[in-house]
Amino acid sequence: MPIFLDTGNIKEIEKYLKMGIIRGVTTNPSILLKDGVTGGMKGVKARSMEIARLIDPLPLSVEVTTNDPLQMRSQAQELAAMASNIIVKITIHGPNGEQQNLEVIHELEAERDIRVNATAMMSAQQCLLAAMAGATYVSLFGGRIANMGYNPCEEITRLRKVLDIFNLKAKIIIGSTREVLNVIEWLGAGAHFVTVVPNLLDAMIVHPYSKETVRMFLADAAKIETQTEVDHLFPTEKSDDNKGEVIITRSKQQQVV
Ligand code: E4P
Repeated sequence: MPIFLDTGNIKEIEKYLKMGIIRGVTTNPSILLKDGVTGGMKGVKARSMEIARLIDPLPLSVEVTTNDPLQMRSQAQELAAMASNIIVKITIHGPNGEQQNLEVIHELEAERDIRVNATAMMSAQQCLLAAMAGATYVSLFGGRIANMGYNPCEEITRLRKVLDIFNLKAKIIIGSTREVLNVIEWLGAGAHFVTVVPNLLDAMIVHPYSKETVRMFLADAAKIETQTEVDHLFPTEKSDDNKGEVIITRSKQQQVV
């Protein structure tokens, strides 16, 4: 099922959950900060717990707040222990290209039975390596890829092809949505999930012409309500029982034998 919500806002999550149109939630430190989380790891854990309970059993991705390998491991274990639907996000490498992150991803998945969402990836090749390390999800940042002048659809299609060919378990989450069209286009290109920001989901739902059409239906429904003589709408059916001809009424076709 293809749509995750990219937010840390409880009210937004409740809204779309009730509509039945989201299948998980993704967060990161920048999103949580924007959505009012404070108090360090304690604050992150409190908001994550709240979201995890709310959406259970749907998956919630929560990112570690450090790039120190030892701390990443211990934060990952703490986060994963809080709820069975929490997926731990680890970036593909550190701020200076530190490569121990892949080792951490591999260890968490292979030895500690913790599901990892490898994140902050800008290319199919990064995602392929994260998938080989054992990540359950690989997050490709479509909007940022496009900002750099590359086509996210090409990366998604190439990635999906190799994941399928080599039977790797990783599922592609494409995030960093910027435009309504991203959702359908990126899913069409082969992403398993698109994680969508709330305002884009609103824009997917509401269409100006749908508004106009619904207004027309309601106006005509109101006219029916006030209608007093309805017989002319449904005239009495006539039959001709000696000609075997077809008599067509407004409500049905009738063969007279
Ligand atoms: C995905 O999991 C990320 O949370 C997110 O989509 C990043 O998007 P941004 O480029 O808007 O920061």
